[in-house]
Amino acid sequence: MKKAIRGRCLSYRDNPFTKPIKECLCYEDDGLIVIEDGKIGAFGSAHELLPHLDKTVPVTRYEDALICPGFIDCHVHYPQTEIIGAFGKQLIDWLNNYTFVAEQKFADKEYASAAADVFLKEILRSGTTTAAVFCTVHPVSVDAFFEQSARINMRNIAGKVLMDRHAPPALTDTAQSGYDETKRLIQKWHGNGRALYAVTPRFAPTSTEEQMEMAGAVWKEHPGTYLQSHISENRKEIEWVKTLFPDRKNYVDVYQHYGQLGPRAIYGHGVHFTKEDFRAFSETGAALAHCPTSNLFLGSGLFSLDQAMQGSFPVRTGLATDLGGGTNFSQLVSMNEAYKIAQLNGFALDAHKAFYLATRGAAASLYLDETLGSIEPGYEADLTILDLKATPLIAHRLAYADSLEEQIFALMTVGDDRAAKATYIAGNLIYSRDSETNEEQFYGI
Ligand code: GUN
Ligand code: ZN
Repeated sequence: MKKAIRGRCLSYRDNPFTKPIKECLCYEDDGLIVIEDGKIGAFGSAHELLPHLDKTVPVTRYEDALICPGFIDCHVHYPQTEIIGAFGKQLIDWLNNYTFVAEQKFADKEYASAAADVFLKEILRSGTTTAAVFCTVHPVSVDAFFEQSARINMRNIAGKVLMDRHAPPALTDTAQSGYDETKRLIQKWHGNGRALYAVTPRFAPTSTEEQMEMAGAVWKEHPGTYLQSHISENRKEIEWVKTLFPDRKNYVDVYQHYGQLGPRAIYGHGVHFTKEDFRAFSETGAALAHCPTSNLFLGSGLFSLDQAMQGSFPVRTGLATDLGGGTNFSQLVSMNEAYKIAQLNGFALDAHKAFYLATRGAAASLYLDETLGSIEPGYEADLTILDLKATPLIAHRLAYADSLEEQIFALMTVGDDRAAKATYIAGNLIYSRDSETNEEQFYGI
């Protein structure tokens, strides 16, 4: 059914890190988005489009709101929702003490389905419409996730974690079983509805050379699939990789050696990247997911966003939560923390660049920027409506903001999940929150 949404619309047609903002910004003060068959059919000023719109087409008007492309979270772990905010220490201890304990429960399909339901509702109520998701080592954790995702018709990327060493026996596969199960899951899920599959070696320390080899092979055998992993997050992790792969030049070289860099490879972190690391990612087309709340929470370090986006070797980079290492599902919070990390690196991240990283930039890091992450005819109609009066403080602060730039900067600084007023998936309203009563509702799930 044809429908339309009317209100202030913000999106980007190009990359504001490398081009002047006026060439990138696509903003309509009173815009109209016409939606048909889950896609954007037309977009422009309401004044120009309304006279041509059939009177029978329902128009939903959003006042005091900003209509954006749905946020994209480029790296997140659904099984870790239950350990968000777990106290203590850095990456390796945190993995052993909390993560590997929680993930064992996902051998149970029902448990995994219930967890996927909680996770998907949390991202939708934060305005996120697509995520690149780590499941666990158990194939049923992938089935559970994609089944829940299909109920909502979401374009999500996910995969079974591959781990054949340095983890509890209940969480390990073998190089061969990991390969076979990945192949079977790709056949079952990749391109099934809106689902996309990611071959998911957790990170180099938890895979033997044999498994690394087979992960690269299965990815190569299935063009169009993704590969997701972690890289250069924590100094001790980097030292560990050196001892585990003594023949390799560095961490990046480990993945490169096993054929795991290239278009549609997306790696969380890259916090301690050298110029040479950026060059390898830039040249191969591999992408990074910047995970600010996680990098701060786990004390990992300060990612060099300016080098990644506008250095001599630019890398496709998207914003991500990395929850449960990350501490909030809201990409507004990720933007806020990304700004602070950039500040500590001597770079001021303006709001347009931050919003780009969570929308079109994130889509570009996933090679989906021709269908997702922008409000343009032909794009999939995944949209998030941000409430400019979501809280008394947001309403008060925005009343003192004179320009769009000031408004959206304040919104990303003080906003969070409460700012998500409505979320549309493939043109269908899936979530809404009443600004006055705060009452929340999910539709069809
Ligand atoms: N490195 C390997 N596994 C993980 C994980 O689950 N979370 C984070 N933040 N880093 C990792
Ligand atoms: Zn992660």
